[in-house]
Amino acid sequence: MSDGYMWFEGVPFPVVGYTLEHLKAMHNFVFKDEDVLILSFPKSGTNWLIEILCLIHSKGDPTWIQSVPIWERSPWVETMNGYEALKGREGPGHVSSHLPIQLFPKSLFQSKTKVIYLIRNPRDTLASGYFFWSISNFVKKPESLEQYFVGSPKEMEALVTGGRACSARALLTEVAFGSWLEHVCGWMSMRGKENFLIVSYEELKQDTRNMIQKICQFLGRTLEPEEMHLVLKNSSFQVMKENKMSNYSLLPNWLLDEKNGSLMRRGTTGDWKNHFTVAQAEVFDKIFQEKMAGLPRELFPWE
Ligand code: A3P
Repeated sequence: MSDGYMWFEGVPFPVVGYTLEHLKAMHNFVFKDEDVLILSFPKSGTNWLIEILCLIHSKGDPTWIQSVPIWERSPWVETMNGYEALKGREGPGHVSSHLPIQLFPKSLFQSKTKVIYLIRNPRDTLASGYFFWSISNFVKKPESLEQYFVGSPKEMEALVTGGRACSARALLTEVAFGSWLEHVCGWMSMRGKENFLIVSYEELKQDTRNMIQKICQFLGRTLEPEEMHLVLKNSSFQVMKENKMSNYSLLPNWLLDEKNGSLMRRGTTGDWKNHFTVAQAEVFDKIFQEKMAGLPRELFPWE
């Protein structure tokens, strides 16, 4: 397929790691009530949240996170390897996914699986995505920052909505999992359900301890002060950056060009300001306000 992407039900997936056959089969995956599902649009800080959940599980003991790759600790249900691992798993555990709600296995909606939806300022998500796809060797790299953050209102809209037909520069929407907007709006329909928790990257960053406490409460777990200290320490940006089981450096060079960057890039909020032009930021603002008008502002703590 061109550019390293294939389309499934109108959504682009990288061809490496995903097959149409698995994506179809995955639809019948059965969730267990005791599973914990981590959901997000790509580049929202998903691996950070996975690391935190693993550490809550081990009460801060880093043995697990230092000995098992992150994608094995919390397999991605939509990937070929993740789906096979989850199918063969006997007990409950962590599951990760970037899938939009309309492609999700239906069993989730009949289960009591605890779902944590991670949301991040889409501007930072897009900046993070731009740099990540620039070091990926398995999909077409963005040619330049300008090309990724196109300047015209029409093209900028395509960037936010993921509407393929809107953009002459299809690359914008050929980012895995399509549109941030649709992803968020779709999953927000679960808002208010008692097994659904929304966590923002911004709040996690601002008061990590408080958010971890909130997550523990949701999961029905408790941490002693010393355990909390270990969770905080071992999930910190610096420690994760150095943990080869979590920083993606185990991936071969033909997938990720580690010489030119890393999954663990900045780990900050507001980095988009260093990359968007004023005009792009204005267009983005306008579209964001219009499209998200129906959702309460407290969902977007960065606004
Ligand atoms: P940046 O590119 O802005 O630095 P994902 O895991 O969904 O692919 O998201 C990757 C983003 O999460 C990257 O953002 C990465 O730096 C950030 N991230 C990963 N671990 C983190 C941590 N422990 N603390 C803060 N940010 C983290």
